[in-house]
Order: sequence, then C-alpha cells, then structure tokens
Amino acid sequence: MVDEIDVRYLKKIREKATTEVSGPYKPGALLDHPKTITRRSLFWVSWLAFWGLVSMWSFAVVRYLVPRVSYEPSSLFKAGKPADYAMGSVTLIGARKVWIVREEKGIYALIAVCTHLSCQPLWLEQEQIFKCPCHGGQFYKNGVNFAGPPPRPLDRALVTLADDGRLLVDKSQIVGLESILPV
Ligand code: FES
Repeated sequence: MVDEIDVRYLKKIREKATTEVSGPYKPGALLDHPKTITRRSLFWVSWLAFWGLVSMWSFAVVRYLVPRVSYEPSSLFKAGKPADYAMGSVTLIGARKVWIVREEKGIYALIAVCTHLSCQPLWLEQEQIFKCPCHGGQFYKNGVNFAGPPPRPLDRALVTLADDGRLLVDKSQIVGLESILPV
C-alpha cells in the first residue's frame, strides 16, 4: 500500500516536471517558489536608478550655475533735483517706499515703513501728519512718533547730492533726526 502511494506520488512529480520543462522557461516554477527577481527587472531598476542619479546631479549643477541674485530695487537711488520738490512738500516715491520732505532747512528722506509692524503709513496733507492704517500709529512731518503703538520715529535715510546735482538717497544708511541736506 505504502509502495503504491510512493509510486503514484513519484509519477505525479515526474509528470509535473516534464510539463514545466517542456513549456517556456518560468523562473522558480519547478520549485513552486514565488517569482524571483529576473534579469529584466534588475535591468530596469538599475536603469531607473541611473537616470534618477543623473537628474539629481544635473539639478545640482544648474542650481550651482544660476546666480542667486536679489531682484529687489537697489537701496541707493537718485531722486531728481532739489528744485523738483516744492517748499513744504511731502512726496512719496512709491517704488522705493521713501518720502522726500522739503522744508525751509533743506531736504530729508523718510522710509515709508511703520516702525511698529511695517505697514506703510499715509501722508495726510490736511493734518500734516503720517498715519498708519494698520494700528493707528501717527508721526509728525519730521517722522517723530506721537500716537499709537510705534515705538520710535520713522527711519530717515541718508540724502546727499550726486555729482550731477541730483539727490542721492541711500536707504541702507539710517541717519538721525537732525540729518537734513541743506539746499
Ligand atoms: S504697523 Fe503701523 S501702527 Fe502698527
């Protein structure tokens, strides 16, 4: 009985082996293993990894070659001639966020950024003050704060005369309240 079972079992295995071998090659089929990594899949994985590395490397090279330039307007600029500003006027140069103030004593430049939380104050011609729309901070014409939360006066930028007679404003140089360009 036992021999009979063994013989039948052996026959079955032999039949299976013959069928599998005679068909197209299937990796692991004879051993009943799950499909293992084939050369083709290994090739594609390597190919993708290679191009992944090439892309990362190219990206790094491009980042290195493209200069990291700031496109913000320069802090140094010319603001026309003193005669362009009428006596007593407050003129906003919007692109530079600077007011040019002309008074009897001369000309000075106030930076149009509130010293509380950096909103842009407005010049109120009738009241002759700057008022911040965000939290109501107020400044006199000379930039000194007198109401609301701003902790200090508006910043005053250095103004000089360029060789061509035009005003040269340098926002990177903050000067004191007494700094006025006599013109
Ligand atoms: S930002 Fe101007 S008062 Fe607050």
